[in-house]
Amino acid sequence: MTTTIGFDVYGTLIDTAGVTEALRQFAGKRTVQFSNLWREKQLEYSFRRALMQNYVHFGFCTRFALDYTCTALGVDIPDQDKEELLAGYKVLPPFADAAESLPVLKDQGFRLFAFSNGKPEDVASLLEHSGISNYFEDVISTDEIKSFKPNPAVYAHFLRRTGATGREAWLISGNPFDVIGAVSAGMRAAWVKRSAEAIFDPWEIEPTITIGSLAELADGIRKN
Ligand code: 2OP
Repeated sequence: MTTTIGFDVYGTLIDTAGVTEALRQFAGKRTVQFSNLWREKQLEYSFRRALMQNYVHFGFCTRFALDYTCTALGVDIPDQDKEELLAGYKVLPPFADAAESLPVLKDQGFRLFAFSNGKPEDVASLLEHSGISNYFEDVISTDEIKSFKPNPAVYAHFLRRTGATGREAWLISGNPFDVIGAVSAGMRAAWVKRSAEAIFDPWEIEPTITIGSLAELADGIRKN
Protein backbone atom coordinates (compact mmCIF):
# COMPACT_ATOMS: atom_id res chain seq x y z
CA MET A 1 0.00 0.00 0.00
CA THR A 2 1.55 3.33 -1.03
CA THR A 3 1.00 6.11 1.47
CA THR A 4 -0.19 9.44 0.07
CA ILE A 5 0.77 12.58 1.96
CA GLY A 6 -0.82 16.02 1.59
CA PHE A 7 1.24 18.85 3.08
CA ASP A 8 -0.41 22.03 4.20
CA VAL A 9 1.66 24.95 2.90
CA TYR A 10 1.52 28.21 4.88
CA GLY A 11 2.87 27.55 8.36
CA THR A 12 3.75 23.91 7.64
CA LEU A 13 6.11 23.78 4.64
CA ILE A 14 6.59 27.54 4.36
CA ASP A 15 7.69 29.81 7.21
CA THR A 16 5.47 32.92 7.21
CA ALA A 17 7.77 34.65 9.78
CA GLY A 18 9.42 36.47 6.85
CA VAL A 19 6.31 38.60 6.45
CA THR A 20 6.52 39.49 10.14
CA GLU A 21 9.98 41.02 9.68
CA ALA A 22 8.74 43.15 6.77
CA LEU A 23 5.96 44.49 9.03
CA ARG A 24 8.38 45.74 11.69
CA GLN A 25 9.00 49.14 9.99
CA PHE A 26 5.23 49.83 10.21
CA ALA A 27 4.08 48.10 13.38
CA GLY A 28 7.20 48.54 15.57
CA LYS A 29 6.75 46.92 18.99
CA ARG A 30 3.30 45.65 17.96
CA THR A 31 4.74 43.66 15.05
CA VAL A 32 4.05 40.23 16.58
CA GLN A 33 0.53 41.30 17.63
CA PHE A 34 -0.08 42.64 14.12
CA SER A 35 1.25 39.49 12.44
CA ASN A 36 -0.84 37.19 14.65
CA LEU A 37 -4.05 39.20 14.17
CA TRP A 38 -3.46 39.30 10.39
CA ARG A 39 -3.10 35.50 10.25
CA GLU A 40 -6.11 34.92 12.54
CA LYS A 41 -8.29 37.24 10.43
CA GLN A 42 -7.04 35.72 7.15
CA LEU A 43 -8.16 32.29 8.36
CA GLU A 44 -11.40 33.61 9.89
CA TYR A 45 -12.31 35.17 6.53
CA SER A 46 -11.65 31.87 4.75
CA PHE A 47 -13.88 30.01 7.26
CA ARG A 48 -16.67 32.57 6.82
CA ARG A 49 -16.38 32.60 3.02
CA ALA A 50 -16.69 28.80 2.89
CA LEU A 51 -19.61 28.69 5.35
CA MET A 52 -21.43 31.52 3.51
CA GLN A 53 -20.65 29.94 0.11
CA ASN A 54 -19.43 33.42 -0.83
CA TYR A 55 -16.06 32.41 -2.26
CA VAL A 56 -13.14 34.63 -3.17
CA HIS A 57 -9.63 33.24 -3.55
CA PHE A 58 -7.30 33.06 -0.54
CA GLY A 59 -5.28 36.06 -1.69
CA PHE A 60 -8.36 38.26 -1.15
CA CYS A 61 -8.82 36.86 2.38
CA THR A 62 -5.16 37.80 3.02
CA ARG A 63 -5.65 41.28 1.55
CA PHE A 64 -8.90 42.05 3.43
CA ALA A 65 -7.37 40.71 6.68
CA LEU A 66 -4.44 43.11 6.23
CA ASP A 67 -6.83 46.04 5.84
CA TYR A 68 -8.78 44.95 8.94
CA THR A 69 -5.61 44.62 11.03
CA CYS A 70 -4.35 48.08 10.02
CA THR A 71 -7.67 49.59 11.13
CA ALA A 72 -7.96 47.50 14.30
CA LEU A 73 -4.45 48.39 15.49
CA GLY A 74 -4.34 51.91 14.06
CA VAL A 75 -1.30 51.12 11.92
CA ASP A 76 -1.09 53.14 8.71
CA ILE A 77 0.52 51.26 5.79
CA PRO A 78 0.52 53.03 2.40
CA ASP A 79 -1.15 51.06 -0.42
CA GLN A 80 2.14 50.53 -2.28
CA ASP A 81 3.71 49.04 0.85
CA LYS A 82 0.65 46.83 1.36
CA GLU A 83 1.15 45.50 -2.19
CA GLU A 84 4.78 44.71 -1.33
CA LEU A 85 3.76 42.92 1.88
CA LEU A 86 1.20 40.87 -0.05
CA ALA A 87 3.80 40.11 -2.71
CA GLY A 88 6.04 38.90 0.14
CA TYR A 89 3.61 36.02 0.68
CA LYS A 90 4.71 34.67 -2.71
CA VAL A 91 8.42 34.47 -1.91
CA LEU A 92 8.63 33.04 1.62
CA PRO A 93 11.30 30.49 2.64
CA PRO A 94 10.65 26.84 3.49
CA PHE A 95 11.16 25.58 7.02
CA ALA A 96 14.60 23.96 7.29
CA ASP A 97 13.10 20.62 8.27
CA ALA A 98 10.88 20.70 5.17
CA ALA A 99 13.80 21.18 2.80
CA GLU A 100 15.71 18.38 4.57
CA SER A 101 12.86 15.87 4.96
CA LEU A 102 11.03 16.05 1.61
CA PRO A 103 13.80 14.35 -0.46
CA VAL A 104 14.06 11.59 2.15
CA LEU A 105 10.29 11.00 2.12
CA LYS A 106 10.27 10.94 -1.68
CA ASP A 107 13.19 8.45 -1.78
CA GLN A 108 11.27 6.23 0.65
CA GLY A 109 8.40 5.93 -1.84
CA PHE A 110 5.76 8.18 -0.29
CA ARG A 111 3.52 10.07 -2.74
CA LEU A 112 3.88 13.75 -1.87
CA PHE A 113 1.39 16.53 -2.63
CA ALA A 114 1.10 20.17 -1.61
CA PHE A 115 -2.45 20.76 -0.34
CA SER A 116 -3.48 24.35 0.32
CA ASN A 117 -6.13 27.05 0.41
CA GLY A 118 -3.87 29.07 -1.85
CA LYS A 119 -4.59 29.40 -5.58
CA PRO A 120 -2.76 26.68 -7.57
CA GLU A 121 -0.55 29.18 -9.38
CA ASP A 122 0.31 31.05 -6.17
CA VAL A 123 1.26 27.83 -4.37
CA ALA A 124 3.20 26.49 -7.36
CA SER A 125 5.26 29.68 -7.70
CA LEU A 126 5.84 29.85 -3.92
CA LEU A 127 7.14 26.25 -3.84
CA GLU A 128 9.24 26.88 -6.94
CA HIS A 129 10.78 30.00 -5.38
CA SER A 130 11.47 28.13 -2.14
CA GLY A 131 13.26 25.34 -4.02
CA ILE A 132 11.06 22.44 -2.91
CA SER A 133 8.54 22.12 -5.78
CA ASN A 134 10.30 19.12 -7.40
CA TYR A 135 9.41 16.80 -4.51
CA PHE A 136 5.66 17.06 -5.13
CA GLU A 137 3.65 15.01 -7.57
CA ASP A 138 1.12 17.86 -7.80
CA VAL A 139 -0.36 20.89 -6.07
CA ILE A 140 -3.94 20.40 -4.89
CA SER A 141 -5.78 23.61 -4.12
CA THR A 142 -9.13 24.09 -2.42
CA ASP A 143 -9.67 26.79 -5.05
CA GLU A 144 -10.46 23.91 -7.45
CA ILE A 145 -13.78 23.43 -5.68
CA LYS A 146 -14.20 27.06 -4.61
CA SER A 147 -14.06 26.42 -0.89
CA PHE A 148 -11.58 26.33 2.00
CA LYS A 149 -10.31 24.05 4.75
CA PRO A 150 -11.78 22.57 6.95
CA ASN A 151 -14.83 22.01 4.72
CA PRO A 152 -14.99 18.17 4.49
CA ALA A 153 -15.47 18.56 0.74
CA VAL A 154 -11.89 19.80 0.33
CA TYR A 155 -10.46 16.62 1.93
CA ALA A 156 -12.75 14.50 -0.27
CA HIS A 157 -11.41 16.50 -3.23
CA PHE A 158 -7.85 15.68 -2.16
CA LEU A 159 -8.70 11.96 -2.08
CA ARG A 160 -10.39 12.12 -5.50
CA ARG A 161 -7.48 14.02 -7.06
CA THR A 162 -4.85 11.63 -5.63
CA GLY A 163 -6.84 8.40 -5.97
CA ALA A 164 -6.07 7.62 -2.32
CA THR A 165 -8.45 6.28 0.31
CA GLY A 166 -8.77 7.65 3.85
CA ARG A 167 -6.54 5.12 5.69
CA GLU A 168 -3.64 5.45 3.25
CA ALA A 169 -3.90 9.24 3.02
CA TRP A 170 -2.26 11.62 5.50
CA LEU A 171 -2.66 15.37 5.99
CA ILE A 172 0.38 17.06 7.53
CA SER A 173 -0.25 20.46 9.07
CA GLY A 174 0.94 22.90 11.71
CA ASN A 175 -2.63 24.21 11.88
CA PRO A 176 -4.88 22.34 14.35
CA PHE A 177 -8.07 23.36 12.49
CA ASP A 178 -6.70 21.58 9.41
CA VAL A 179 -5.70 18.44 11.35
CA ILE A 180 -9.13 18.28 13.02
CA GLY A 181 -10.85 18.82 9.66
CA ALA A 182 -8.86 16.06 7.95
CA VAL A 183 -9.39 13.45 10.71
CA SER A 184 -13.08 14.40 10.88
CA ALA A 185 -13.27 13.77 7.12
CA GLY A 186 -11.75 10.27 7.48
CA MET A 187 -8.07 10.93 6.74
CA ARG A 188 -5.12 10.40 9.04
CA ALA A 189 -3.22 13.48 10.15
CA ALA A 190 0.04 14.59 11.74
CA TRP A 191 0.13 17.83 13.71
CA VAL A 192 3.51 19.55 13.30
CA LYS A 193 4.06 21.18 16.68
CA ARG A 194 7.26 23.15 16.18
CA SER A 195 6.74 25.37 19.23
CA ALA A 196 6.27 24.32 22.88
CA GLU A 197 3.68 27.12 23.17
CA ALA A 198 1.52 25.79 20.32
CA ILE A 199 -1.95 24.73 21.54
CA PHE A 200 -4.13 22.04 20.03
CA ASP A 201 -7.79 23.07 20.29
CA PRO A 202 -9.90 21.29 22.91
CA TRP A 203 -11.88 18.94 20.65
CA GLU A 204 -13.08 15.34 20.67
CA ILE A 205 -10.72 14.75 17.74
CA GLU A 206 -6.96 14.26 18.23
CA PRO A 207 -4.12 14.14 15.69
CA THR A 208 -3.18 10.61 14.57
CA ILE A 209 0.38 11.63 15.56
CA THR A 210 2.08 14.79 16.82
CA ILE A 211 5.62 15.56 15.60
CA GLY A 212 8.04 18.37 16.41
CA SER A 213 9.61 18.33 12.97
CA LEU A 214 9.01 16.81 9.53
CA ALA A 215 12.14 14.71 10.18
CA GLU A 216 9.95 12.57 12.49
CA LEU A 217 7.19 12.02 9.91
CA ALA A 218 8.30 8.81 8.15
CA ASP A 219 8.74 6.92 11.43
CA GLY A 220 5.48 8.30 12.78
CA ILE A 221 3.54 7.08 9.74
CA ARG A 222 5.18 3.66 9.81
CA LYS A 223 4.25 3.16 13.46
CA ASN A 224 0.60 4.03 12.83
C1 2OP B 1 -3.01 26.45 3.80
O1 2OP B 1 -1.87 26.50 3.33
C2 2OP B 1 -4.16 28.09 5.20
O2 2OP B 1 -2.09 27.18 5.90
C3 2OP B 1 -3.27 26.94 5.20
O3 2OP B 1 -3.99 26.00 3.22
